[in-house]
Amino acid sequence: MPDFKFPVYRPNLSGNERRYVNECLETNWISSKGAFVGRFEKEFAQYAGAPSATSCCNGTVSLHLALLALNIQPGDEVIVPTFTYVASVNAIRYVGAIPVFVDSDPQTWQMDINDVKKKISAKTKAVMAVHLYGQACDLDALASLCQQRNLYLVEDCAEAIGTRIGSKHVGTFGDIASFSFFGNKTITTGEGGMLIANNPALIARCAHLKSQAVSPERTYWHDDIGYNYRMTNICAAIGVAQLERIESLMAQKRSIAMNYQHGLQSINDVKLHAEVPGTTHSFWMVSLQVKNEAQRNGLRNHLAQAGIETRPGFPPSHLFPMHAEFARGQRFPVAETLASTTINLPSYPDLTPQDVGFICQCIREYFGVNHGHRNEPSAT
Ligand SMILES: Cc1ncc(COP(=O)(O)O)c(C=O)c1O
Repeated sequence: MPDFKFPVYRPNLSGNERRYVNECLETNWISSKGAFVGRFEKEFAQYAGAPSATSCCNGTVSLHLALLALNIQPGDEVIVPTFTYVASVNAIRYVGAIPVFVDSDPQTWQMDINDVKKKISAKTKAVMAVHLYGQACDLDALASLCQQRNLYLVEDCAEAIGTRIGSKHVGTFGDIASFSFFGNKTITTGEGGMLIANNPALIARCAHLKSQAVSPERTYWHDDIGYNYRMTNICAAIGVAQLERIESLMAQKRSIAMNYQHGLQSINDVKLHAEVPGTTHSFWMVSLQVKNEAQRNGLRNHLAQAGIETRPGFPPSHLFPMHAEFARGQRFPVAETLASTTINLPSYPDLTPQDVGFICQCIREYFGVNHGHRNEPSAT
């Protein structure tokens, strides 16, 4: 992999991370037993405003646990945006359920609620809302639709810690929600995941299943097919330290997003992934859309030459060979356009205003825009 001067992401581990990890080593508590696990779960639930939480080893298995806890069965249908990271769809397949793809809204890039309405069938059991790149889906609309139609609402918040609608954190609108703490997430544990739910019984069920479904009544007795999806104490120690600094990490990321906005506003061909009024975009990834795929690929190459890493929008999941049959021959034009015209920019909290200024200057250069003037006729 080329070594970029400005990668898309780099975690900031400058708080108590080392101290707490050393505490694990010094006390010999390195497995999934140990005080940091419970502490991270409790503090995470408090931060998100949920009654309880349970940790697990990544944000993919947490989606699996969420669907198991809701008793989603083989043949049940789960509505999911095709424009998402593949893990959302894989988790649906893990339980043998059928992913029913929906297209995206061209303004917000989130799942298109009108398409959700069209795709509800007698077999639909749940809707999986994915809050992409740190922006919230329209949860008020989705939650009331799910309530009316008697469907579960699962929130995939892997990319959305810190994202709010009004003052309410995403993940508290639906039945159950899943988070990821991969190394590139706003708070990280290296690898890690978390589940929250308003109904504590669902969290208890996830906790039971993630730890081999051990019977509370009899030693070495298992009352279900369980999993070992537990988080280690070392990961939780890092999580506790990260969570201590979440407000400052969020503030740094917001200021980076504002600096990008300022630096790119003179480019007509660039549309930033904007904050929806009334919500807090956590800007996990500062993302932008350009006019077409050729322009997008050209921009990525231009930035790579200047040492700036970017990522393309996710390929829509219905195009992957293992999920293609579930597209049932349908096209998803908005998702396909987003996939070919969007990029994520370097978005890590330690980017300085000068770094963002340099990246914006490189983007303006590509579009032939300088000091607010366009001088590249071919880009119009
Ligand atoms: C939307 C979404 N869902 C699920 C996941 C899976 O999380 P993890 O990588 O922790 O397994 C990710 C990871 O990046 C994601 O972006």
